Amino acid sequence: METKVVNFEAVKTGIANLFGDYMEGSTDKKMFCIFPSTHDNIDLIDLIIEKGSTHYKDFNYIDNSCSFEAISNIVSQYDNIIYFENSESTHSKELSKYLDKNPKDVFKFTRIFDWSFELFEQAFNAKRETIRRINESVIYKGWNSSVCSVKSNSGTDLEIALSQQYGWINSYGLTMGGHPSILPPSEAATYSDKINGILVGDGAINTNFKFDYDPRLGEYPIKIEFKDSQVVNFECPNYFIQSFLKQYFSIGNANRVGEVGFGTNVGLKYFVDFQSHLNERWPSLHLGLGAPNQGERIDWGSVYHLDIITNDTVIIFDNDIILQNNSYKVIEGNINLDGIPMGYADTL
Ligand SMILES: [Fe+2]
Repeated sequence: METKVVNFEAVKTGIANLFGDYMEGSTDKKMFCIFPSTHDNIDLIDLIIEKGSTHYKDFNYIDNSCSFEAISNIVSQYDNIIYFENSESTHSKELSKYLDKNPKDVFKFTRIFDWSFELFEQAFNAKRETIRRINESVIYKGWNSSVCSVKSNSGTDLEIALSQQYGWINSYGLTMGGHPSILPPSEAATYSDKINGILVGDGAINTNFKFDYDPRLGEYPIKIEFKDSQVVNFECPNYFIQSFLKQYFSIGNANRVGEVGFGTNVGLKYFVDFQSHLNERWPSLHLGLGAPNQGERIDWGSVYHLDIITNDTVIIFDNDIILQNNSYKVIEGNINLDGIPMGYADTL
């Protein structure tokens, strides 16, 4: 794991990849962007406007202090509308209501979280098609396997039972079920109520609530013992994180695994030092503690979600290694996912 200074050329390439590859922009299309009004990284807005304008016939923008009415009035004039967000969704309820009434417009809307230079430096380096292919390989193999074993040099040694009782999440930037598509990509995720062994979180943590501390764990890994997907022991050499975990696990159901996640963004270069979905996309295992991802397939819930992200694991489905050295084994040829219950986004 390394930390580095943001490279502006890489940021520009990332913006170009976002508009060209992920959004499929072209000079006969029109794009509308909604930027954070907090004036964070204002230079980034200039870069996006500069690059975006070269990709589209028409490129317009506004800041997110505007009313939703201002957006709903222009939907019909644009091919795509992107909300650039920090960690919270702008116009969340209003947009949901609008999409209930105008379901075909859902394909126009995208939300991109983790507004930062690091987002563009890292998130869009791997092609959307590459990530789709990795996700589909993981989901196909996972659906057809009964055990996932995960090991690492730092001490992770887990056995995760896989079951066709549970569905999969496939996140690579497409929409599903009436919600905007979500970026940054990418991961495949499922659920298991039989996770046993030791997880050493040596990558980072991510949370669905405000967390102002450096989330990276490289210098002070979290070690957690699980029995049937519940935390039975935990320790972290960092006193702040240890106290945080103690408090977190005392909340109802926050000590239960709600998500078995496989980050698949093979374009990431380093863990970022702020709360971010980018860290969760790291190509390795992460377990989400709290809020589960299975809707009505399971009978428990939680408001909070804490992801413990590993850095470098070997992941084996039945007898096949699917991940080693942060690189996934991709299935060649046609991958048939028919019949697998699947959602396309994993955060709102
Ligand atoms: Fe996840």
